[in-house]
Amino acid sequence: MSQDHGAMDSLLHEERRIPPPAPFVEAAHASDPEVWDRAAADPEAYWAEWARELDWFEPWEKVLEWTPPHAKWFVGGKLNVCHNCLDRHLTTPRRNKAALIWEGEPGDVRVMTYYGLQRRVSKFAHVLRRLGVEKGDRVAIYLPMVPEAAIAMLACARIGAIHSVVFGGFSPESLAGRINDAEAKVLITADAGYRRGSAVPLKNNADAAMEHTDSIEHCIVVERDSHVGRELGVRMKPGRDIWYHELMRDIEGGVDCEVMDSEDPLYILYTSGTTGRPKGVVHTTGGYLTQVHATTKWVFDLKEEDRYWCTADVGWVTGHSYIVYGPLAAGATVFMYEGAPDWPHRGRFWHLCEKYGITLFYTAPTAIRAFMRWGEEWPEKYDLSQLRLLGTVGEPINPEAWMWYHQVIGKERCPIVDTWWQTETGGIMITPLPGLTTTTPGTATRAFPGVHATILNDEGEEVDAGYLAITKPWPSMLRTIWGDDERFQAQYWSKWDGIYFPGDGAKRDEDGNIWILGRVDDVLNVAGHRIGTMEVESALVDDERVAEAAVVGKHHELKGQSIAAFVTVKEGVETGTSLADELKAHVVEKIGAIARPELILFTGDLPKTRSGKIMRRLLKDIAEGRAVGDTTTLADPAVVEALKRRYDEGDA
Ligand code: WTA
Repeated sequence: MSQDHGAMDSLLHEERRIPPPAPFVEAAHASDPEVWDRAAADPEAYWAEWARELDWFEPWEKVLEWTPPHAKWFVGGKLNVCHNCLDRHLTTPRRNKAALIWEGEPGDVRVMTYYGLQRRVSKFAHVLRRLGVEKGDRVAIYLPMVPEAAIAMLACARIGAIHSVVFGGFSPESLAGRINDAEAKVLITADAGYRRGSAVPLKNNADAAMEHTDSIEHCIVVERDSHVGRELGVRMKPGRDIWYHELMRDIEGGVDCEVMDSEDPLYILYTSGTTGRPKGVVHTTGGYLTQVHATTKWVFDLKEEDRYWCTADVGWVTGHSYIVYGPLAAGATVFMYEGAPDWPHRGRFWHLCEKYGITLFYTAPTAIRAFMRWGEEWPEKYDLSQLRLLGTVGEPINPEAWMWYHQVIGKERCPIVDTWWQTETGGIMITPLPGLTTTTPGTATRAFPGVHATILNDEGEEVDAGYLAITKPWPSMLRTIWGDDERFQAQYWSKWDGIYFPGDGAKRDEDGNIWILGRVDDVLNVAGHRIGTMEVESALVDDERVAEAAVVGKHHELKGQSIAAFVTVKEGVETGTSLADELKAHVVEKIGAIARPELILFTGDLPKTRSGKIMRRLLKDIAEGRAVGDTTTLADPAVVEALKRRYDEGDA
C-alpha cells in the first residue's frame, strides 16, 4: 500500500467519544438503533421501503437483479428524477417554499421557489427538445455555480437526456476530451464565472474546446454578466451558439416529464483513475435517486424548516448528489454560493451562514483546515447559532480539524457527519447517523444501513487493516464506465469475486469504526479533488523537452496532498526554475489549475525495479523527506542516493 500507515496509527488511539447531542436524539429522523440490523437482515426490503418514498409512474417488478458486477435496481419500475425533485412537490405546501437560494460572488441574490424552479426547468427542457435533444442524447454542462447549472441538469433529467457536467476549472482540452468521449450534442456554458474577484472565461474556453470536437451541434450560453462578457471578448458563432435568455424568452411553455426506466442512465460524470484518461462513471435513475434521497434525509437529518448548504461545486459528484438530486427530492431549501471562502474576506462563509440562517452545513476537510489556519476571529464575528449539523466529505479528516469544527463552528452543539463515498458510489456509504452514532474524531464510523462495508486483505479475508471493500450491491452504485465495460470490470471488480474495490485503505478500531486511510492506488486527493498520477504524467511528457515523468502525492498541511513530479529531460535540455515553471503551466493548460504540481524535481534517472517499473514509493519517501525505505529490488540504488541528495540540498 502506498499510504503511510505509520502516521495514521496514532490516530487510532483517539480516545474522545462524542455522543449525539440530546435534542438530536429526541427529534432525529433516524432514531431506531436496530435499523442497521433490520436493514442487514433484508437489504432489498429495506431499500424498497426507501424507494416507496419516491413517486413511481409504474411500480418495479423486482427490487434487485444481481449478475456481478452488473446490478439492476427496481427492475421494470418507471419514474422521472425531475418529477421527483420538482413536480411532485407542487401539490404540497412546498410549492411556495424556496427550493434554491443563490448568492453570487459579487453579492447578487436570486431565490426560486419550487414552483419557480419547476417552471424554469420545464421551459428549458422544452428548449433542449426544440434543439433536437432526445432521450438518451448527451448534453455537456460547463457552468459556474449559478442556478442555471441545476436548471440544466434537471431539464436533462426531465427529457431523459444524459448530462455530463464538467467542472468549470477544467481546461479546454479536458472539456474537449469529455465531450468527445460522450459524443455530446449540446454544450451549455456561460460567458463567465466569478472566482476571487476575477472572471473565469468559460465561453472562451468552450470555444477552444469546440475546435477539437465534432459532435456539438449547439452551444447554449448563459449570460452571467454582459459587461464582463464583453471585456472577455465573448463571441457567438452564428448557427451554433445561442444565448440562454433568448431561448427562454422565445419558448412557449414547458414539457412533461419523460417516463424513464429505473435503469435508464441519468448522467455521466468523469473522474480520475489509474490511467491517463478519466473515466465516465455512469449513474442510472431509480436506485440512484433512492439512495441520495435516503441519505440526504437521514445523514443530514433534513427537516422541512432547514436551510441546507453544501459548499461543493456542481461539477463534482457531491454537487450532483447533495446540492441537486438528494436535497430537492427531499424537498429541502438549498443554498448555493458561487464563490470562494476567502473573498472578499475570510469570513465570507460565516457571514453567509448568518445571513441565510444556514442550519445544515456540508464541506470538505481541506476547507476546514484553511478556516483553522485563518483563525477563530473570523467565525467569531458572526452569529452561527442557527447551525445544527455539520458534515464533511472528500478526504480523511484529521482529528484536530474535526475538533476545531466541532468546537469553533458547531459550539459543541452540532453533530458532525464524516461521510465516506465516491463518484462511483453515487451516494453516501459510510457515515454516522446524527441522532444515533457516538462519534470519534477522524472516523466515518460505519456503513449506512443497507450498505455492506468491510476491510479485506489481498486474499479477500476479513482483517482489521487492509483494503476497504463493499460486499453487496447498493442502489446508487455506478453501473458501468461509459463506453468501456471492460475497464469497469477490471478496475472495480477484479480484486475479489463479486466484491467492489473502492481503492481506499482502511482500519477498524476497537469500537468497530472504520477509519479511511486514503487511496492505495495511483490516485491523488488534492484539496478533496481526485487527480490521477498518470494524468499529470501524461501532461508532463506531452512537453517535448520531457523524457519521462513520475508523479507522487506529497503530504500537505492544508490540501491533504500536493503534487510532486520527478522529471527527466531529453539530451541537451537545460533544467532550472524557468523550465519547472513552464512545465507547471503546461500541466495547468492540459488539465486545469487543480492539477498544478507544487514541486518539480529534475533528475537524471528515475528509480526503477529490475523489470522497469518506476518505484513511486521511494519517490514519495523522498518527496516527504523521509528516510528512504527498502531499495533491494532497485535496478540501480545509486539513482535514489543521488536523487535524495539533490532533494535534500533544496534543488527542487
Ligand atoms: C476520499 C467524493 C476519507 C476517498 C465524494 C475516496 C474520503 C475519494 C472521504 C472519492 C471521507 C471521500 N474520509 N476519505 N469522509 N470521502 N474520501 O470520487 O479516498 O471525488 O475514494 O468523491 O475521496 O473521491 P470522489
